[in-house]
Amino acid sequence: MIREITMRELDAEKFIGEQVAAIAGAVGDGAAINALSGGVDSSAVTMLGHRALGARLRTVFIDNGLMREGEPEQVAGLFAKLGVKVEIVDARAEFFAALKGISDPEAKREAITQTFYRHVFGRIVRESGARHLLQGTILTDVDETVAGIKRQHNVFEQLGIDPQEAFGYRIIEPLIQLRKDCVRKVGRALGLPAGLFDRIPFPGPALSARVIGEATPERIETVRKATQIVERLLEGTGAFQYMAILHEDRVTGMRDGRREFGQQIEVRCWDSLDARTAAPTRLPFEKLAELAGELTRAVPGVVSVTYNIATKPPSTIEAV
Ligand code: XMP
Repeated sequence: MIREITMRELDAEKFIGEQVAAIAGAVGDGAAINALSGGVDSSAVTMLGHRALGARLRTVFIDNGLMREGEPEQVAGLFAKLGVKVEIVDARAEFFAALKGISDPEAKREAITQTFYRHVFGRIVRESGARHLLQGTILTDVDETVAGIKRQHNVFEQLGIDPQEAFGYRIIEPLIQLRKDCVRKVGRALGLPAGLFDRIPFPGPALSARVIGEATPERIETVRKATQIVERLLEGTGAFQYMAILHEDRVTGMRDGRREFGQQIEVRCWDSLDARTAAPTRLPFEKLAELAGELTRAVPGVVSVTYNIATKPPSTIEAV
């Protein structure tokens, strides 16, 4: 049973001091490794590990090719300003090879998870010689695993490290007693910039969750361009989450006086408190028209733009 530290109890400075000491004590004069995604949890863990170990912590950002425009460089740049070196690992080819020919949503998620843990991060951990792995598991992750919402994770098995060998490895989870609000408080106290906390949610499978059907490099590039436009135009709405989705079926359009059997982008923009239920934001028609204009003008091959007006449930926030 893990003892929760509530928001009322949490003294962020004291918590940071204790966790930094615990990490330093556990790693001794060895080395540790962690994967940074740019989310709040992995960012807070990176800062704690950095304070405890300095250069003996190796932080990798795995570029799976499914991120938003410029995201790997932005995350690495942000940490560079905080004095933390982040190594960007280019694994784009490996992820696209694993996604080749796959259209089923669950199979896509599985391919990404397997490629991340077993192939890319697993290989980096094994080759690094680091015996300590820092992970941003929070209490909600533990609850969801127990409740069967998330799949049971044996991290070492996922990394392809056999249990015999795994005795030599240790996993350190400094945030395991906290929930999200506490992690945010700790993150702020660690000096993480505000921009990292007020970002809209973004799913683990990244842009592949926004491509219906096969996630090829070309189709991901299309949805990446569309995402940039949708995020720019809807940033000021205060909505909970907004996104562009690339559909699989094509429709006939007309460009430069010629018929074009083109692609369709669906825009979603949600009002929600906790993502469990959501309703479409009542965007002014002028805003919708602006989205349609920019998306058909700036994203090659797009001839049709739709706006989702269904609620969750029965819809979900993401489309895949
Ligand atoms: P849904 O689509 O289930 O999304 O209504 C609820 C919230 O969770 C995010 N989401 C995900 N996050 N891995 C994640 O890390 C996923 O596979 C995933 N699917 C959805 C989604 O962006 C929304 O905020």
